[in-house]
This record gives sequence, C-alpha cells and structure tokens, in this order.
Amino acid sequence: MTTTTGILDIAITKNPHSKIAEIDFENLAFGKNFSDHMLLADYADGQWGDFRIQPFGNFEIHPSMASLHYGQALFEGLKAYKSPQGEILLFRPYENARRMNRSAERLCMAQMPEEVFMEALTTFLDIERDWVSDKEGCSLYVRPFMFSTEAFLGVKPSDFYRFMIITSPVGNYYDGAIKVKVELEYSRAGKGGTGTAKAAGNYAAALYPAKMGQDKGYRQLVWTDSLEHKYIEESGTMNIFFVIDGKIITPPLDSGTILAGVTRDSIIQVAKSWGLPLEERKISVDEVVESINNKKLTEVFGAGTAATIAQIELINIGEKDYVLPPVATREFSNKVGKYLSDLRTGKIEDPFGWVVRI
Ligand code: COI
Repeated sequence: MTTTTGILDIAITKNPHSKIAEIDFENLAFGKNFSDHMLLADYADGQWGDFRIQPFGNFEIHPSMASLHYGQALFEGLKAYKSPQGEILLFRPYENARRMNRSAERLCMAQMPEEVFMEALTTFLDIERDWVSDKEGCSLYVRPFMFSTEAFLGVKPSDFYRFMIITSPVGNYYDGAIKVKVELEYSRAGKGGTGTAKAAGNYAAALYPAKMGQDKGYRQLVWTDSLEHKYIEESGTMNIFFVIDGKIITPPLDSGTILAGVTRDSIIQVAKSWGLPLEERKISVDEVVESINNKKLTEVFGAGTAATIAQIELINIGEKDYVLPPVATREFSNKVGKYLSDLRTGKIEDPFGWVVRI
C-alpha cells in the first residue's frame, strides 16, 4: 500500500507478525528491542526518494559500500512519549532535523529538507504508536541515521545515501547516579575536527579510552580539550553541567568540539526562564577540583536525550576520586529534570512550544 502524505509518497508494507506482546515494558534495557517496522529512503541523482516503511529486519549491502570503509555515517536520537490523553509527543524534533543537516554538511553528505524529515518521522511513528508506552520512565527511542551507500573504493564524498529510522522502546539509560573519570590523555575531538557533528566515527574513537575507564569502574569519561587537557568538554553520551556557588555552568559550543545537545539547550533555556544564573563558559579541571575542595560545587550532572539528566556521584581526576554531594540535595538538577520530564510527557503546559503532537 502507498500512502500519500502532505509532501511524500511513502510505500507501506505492514509487518504481519508484531513482536510487541513479547516485550517486557517493565524491564527495558536501552537499545536492545526494536519495534515492528523501519523506514528507509534512498538518495540518488541529487534527491531523496523511494521512501518506504517495511517490516524491521536485515537488508543487503554491497561489500564496497563507502560508509563501511571511510565512515560517512551519522545519526540522531530523540524520544517519543505518550501523554495522559494518549497522544504521541515528540520533544523538539526540528532540532534533530537541523542538527542532522549540520552533521551531514560537515561529513559532506546529503542534506534532507526539514519538512521531509518531519513527514517521514511522523508517518513512521504513527504506525508504531502502540510501541510508545505510557509507563513512568519509558519512551520510544527514535534513531534516525544516514550512511553513504555508493559501491566504490575511491575516497570521495558518496553520490548515494540511505536514510533510515528505527525505534526502540527504552527505560532509563543509566540505572542511577554514575561514576565518571576525567580523561587527561586521550581526546574525543580536536579543533577543526568533527566533534560537533553526530558522526558515527566520533563514537568509535571514544570506545578505547572509555573501555579503559570502565575497566577501572568508571561508567563514562569526561572529555577535556585535546590541546592541553585543561578544560572540560562533554561526557561520553551527554553534555555536562556543574553548579558552583549557586551558578549553573556548562562548557560553550564555540570550540567546535562539543555536541550541541537538545537537552543541553533545553536546560539552558529553562534555567534562564527561571531567572537562574547560567554561564556558558570554559570550566577548567582545576576549577572543578578547587570548587570541590572548598565545598562550592553542589551538583554535577550529564544531559542528553538517551541519558536525560544523569546524576554524577563521583568524579575521578588524575589519581583521585572525589565523592560529590548527595543526589537528594541537588536542587537545580532534580527540579529541571522533573520539569523537562513533565513537559515531554504532556503533563504540564509547554510555554516554549517544544512539544510536537502526532
Ligand atoms: C542520545 O542521547 O540520543 C545519543 O545519541 C546518545 C547515544 C550515543 C546513546
């Protein structure tokens, strides 16, 4: 069956064997279960076409497919929630469409018009709406991604791409507060590199140092600048915030090495709207140590779509582990975490116009 939506023709083949009854929505590990369908589209001759929704499953690729060899691959992440009235709600999806295009530009990949991205996304989620649980802490994680598909071993920007959306019912990414290690040797991103893009390769480059940290008991790294390892950048799967002396501080994006997180931006806007002091500025490792020692640091947390607000309970810097103030005492992050959660799930009014209903 082909459905003609506002601007796209999307061919839809329904999955006759839904897996939804097999899913334990009470115990969802992140990214392990997938919904019944996937969306695909292909880019050729300078335009996107062949939009189709089909049963979730494997597909064939050419062994010389360029993304496998040279890494032209990017992704996005957002979550769909169910409101108390049973509507499907998306949180700031246009930001994902825009960021995908910024990543695509940096990686020399195809652009996708925002309205095409939105139409594909909303048509797909309408089909998967039963997969959006209304259980507390649950959502349907949506993973749009794009990769080059040209069968060619020469190094050049591909002329062919595939765009896909898959979805995964999820609970919390972290099951509680986490221990992190400030990375003072390896780097995630350098000036002029791809750190600001949601490039698949950024995550590959992070795996080795992250594994070394995990082997020592630290769940995530906190990256520092690649030049001097002096300034804090972001954490493994999220941006990072500190509350020091009553001020909310997060590293600025102008270094070009930090991912422009949607949750990061939302926290900044909410804090400002509450009239709280918010500083987007460089924060050095030394300042963090000093503010822990003189007890001015009251909160450290990560912020991301998958992670939402992830409390950090311990931070390793050099040879030392610093235990941070108890999570229950963290006024700002607990309050903003609850506020954003209520906003995303349609429990409160949305003064920012961020929530998109399907
Ligand atoms: C997200 O928060 O959506 C991310 O992309 C993080 C992911 C690597 C788990």
